[in-house]
Amino acid sequence: MKKIFSGIQPSGTPTIGNYIGAMKQFISIQENNQCYFCIVDEHAITVQQEPNKLRQQTKSLAALYVAIGLDPKKSVIFIQSEVSAHAEAAWIVQCNTSIGELERMTQFKDKSSKYEKSGVPTGILTYPPLMVADIILYQADEVPVGEDQKQHIELTRDFVNRFNTRYGNGNILLTLPEVSIPKSGGRIMSLQDPMKKMSKSDSSPKGYVSMLDEPNVIRKKIKSAVTDSSGIIEYNTEKKPAISNLLTIFSAFTHISIENLENKYKDSNYATFKNDLAEAIIAVLEPIQQRHNELLDSGELDFILDEGAERAQKVANKTLKKMQRAVGLGRKR
Ligand code: TYM
Repeated sequence: MKKIFSGIQPSGTPTIGNYIGAMKQFISIQENNQCYFCIVDEHAITVQQEPNKLRQQTKSLAALYVAIGLDPKKSVIFIQSEVSAHAEAAWIVQCNTSIGELERMTQFKDKSSKYEKSGVPTGILTYPPLMVADIILYQADEVPVGEDQKQHIELTRDFVNRFNTRYGNGNILLTLPEVSIPKSGGRIMSLQDPMKKMSKSDSSPKGYVSMLDEPNVIRKKIKSAVTDSSGIIEYNTEKKPAISNLLTIFSAFTHISIENLENKYKDSNYATFKNDLAEAIIAVLEPIQQRHNELLDSGELDFILDEGAERAQKVANKTLKKMQRAVGLGRKR
């Protein structure tokens, strides 16, 4: 049994990009592995959040985890800030990471460019060490994520190798994790700009379908998704990035291959194709939304999260102790 760790930020409602790139993988991977799925609220505060909204989004994301089919009997589902070892281990990670490494992260470059240099929040720079901590605390073998997180997993691997060499005395202290990115759908693009990644923090909601969008909103958003003028439904990421993106989404929601979809719609038009795509998304999301709403109104979710935090703490504290001992923190007992 492999150990699996992944997380999603409660910085907004997850989009179908998060679902296709990450969440869908979680469901299949939980069957034969020891999985830890985290709601990474400490990552979310690297940019300013409205406190009550953040708390509500955290709970909603937990409800979505369960609603998509994560089974708390099989997987450990928990909130990052409820396991203090994450912040503690992140400090040790930071002390063994250079500013240069962190400044090289694409996401740091993107996010920091929105501020004047002296005003860049420190958390944007030290965000990846917290992510490294998340992964290593559970000695994860594999991390299922979308393509945009690949660089952060590479940083994790560099850190693990460095830590083991520096402090291991020939022993392996931390597990070297592998990244797992879906073959198709690792990078779902914005519905309004196929050159831009679909993101839950996009200022224009027309760019994404959220997991909690109502059917009519989904229909409208898909209808207004940009296409091109050729009218041909064909997968070609270079020449037809917008239609290729919609085909990828369609395939992910129906499990029909892109090739079969191209065949099915070869004599069709964009309007019919988009209409069918919207209905395919709704067919998957409606029952998830229903379950999500039931969970939010029940005490079940708190029980799942309490138990999840307790189980996560046991594992995380063990690794944290090991790291503290290795670097020389505290007293020898
Ligand atoms: P976040 O919250 O931005 O995204 C959650 C997951 O969704 C994937 N994803 C996408 N996949 C396909 N197409 C897209 N347009 C798309 N947008 C997002 C992301 O790759 C991710 O897998 N830093 C992470 C959260 C995190 C984490 C971790 C992940 C914190 N600690 C430890 C794994 C392991 C993040 O911001 O994801």
